[in-house]
Amino acid sequence: MRHLIDITDLEQGEIQGLLDQSELIAASPADFQDACRHRRLATLFFEPSTRTRLSFEAAMQALGGSVLGFSTADASSTAKGESVSDTVLTVSCYADIIAMRHPKEGAPLLASMRSQVPVINAGDGGHAHPTQTLTDLLTIYREKGRLGDMVVGLCGDLKFGRTVHSLIAAMLPYPGVSFILVSPQELRVPGYIREMLNQAGANYVETEDLEGYLGDMDVLYMTRVQRERFFNEADYVRLKDRFILDIDKLRYGREDLSILHPLPRVNEISTDVDLDPRATYFKQVKNGMIVRQALILKLLGETK
Ligand code: NCD
Repeated sequence: MRHLIDITDLEQGEIQGLLDQSELIAASPADFQDACRHRRLATLFFEPSTRTRLSFEAAMQALGGSVLGFSTADASSTAKGESVSDTVLTVSCYADIIAMRHPKEGAPLLASMRSQVPVINAGDGGHAHPTQTLTDLLTIYREKGRLGDMVVGLCGDLKFGRTVHSLIAAMLPYPGVSFILVSPQELRVPGYIREMLNQAGANYVETEDLEGYLGDMDVLYMTRVQRERFFNEADYVRLKDRFILDIDKLRYGREDLSILHPLPRVNEISTDVDLDPRATYFKQVKNGMIVRQALILKLLGETK
């Protein structure tokens, strides 16, 4: 039985397999509409979500399966003091596969150790978010036709942004990838990510100069400052609007730049950018459902 807790649980060949399968699904969704008939997905969301939960549910429904679950911790027996382990042991009696989001880092890993069915980490605290990364990889692959040989800029909250950590880990092995890490000093990538970059001998810079580096980037991955992970509201308020991408700044970007954002957006991309052909974040949303279909098929052993 396979789980997906961290993006590095998948080998590169398996990631490519998921991207190829996603292309097949996108090209002929009807061929997959019964692939998971009589299979059930449980979405256990102990933290808010729009896209991740709904895209998992839409993905399972598009495969002919059904869904059950909860979308806040207070709607489950967690509110009565039940442990994650007991919740998961219970849910594995009802469902064939589980997608779990939890504010505590490592909770989905713990769940996978007790579960009788595959567990997918749908985001654990400020740590990792592997299915957002599959979404991001599919988007970059579809936009650029490749995953190597490119300059990837990541901007915003690189400290608490779990999607950032997973995306860096996933792109690191591709040849010719370099990173421009744009953030306020206080929100630079955590030490373990910097160590991972150093150990791999990666080419990267850490900077506060978005305009200065924008022209070098093939991909710009904007992120929200993660208010819910701050200890102190004053720090959040001071840092939240430090980097805002607007049409004016975008003049520095190349014509073939792709702008991604895992969403939700707060202020970090002004809405005037939405109409620019380089804005890719709503296409990214669509890709998220397709790649989750591919992942569910793989973990349930339904891949043809
Ligand atoms: C992200 C998350 O939950 O980490 N959202 C998502 O899953 N698309 C990013 C965020 O919340 O800022």
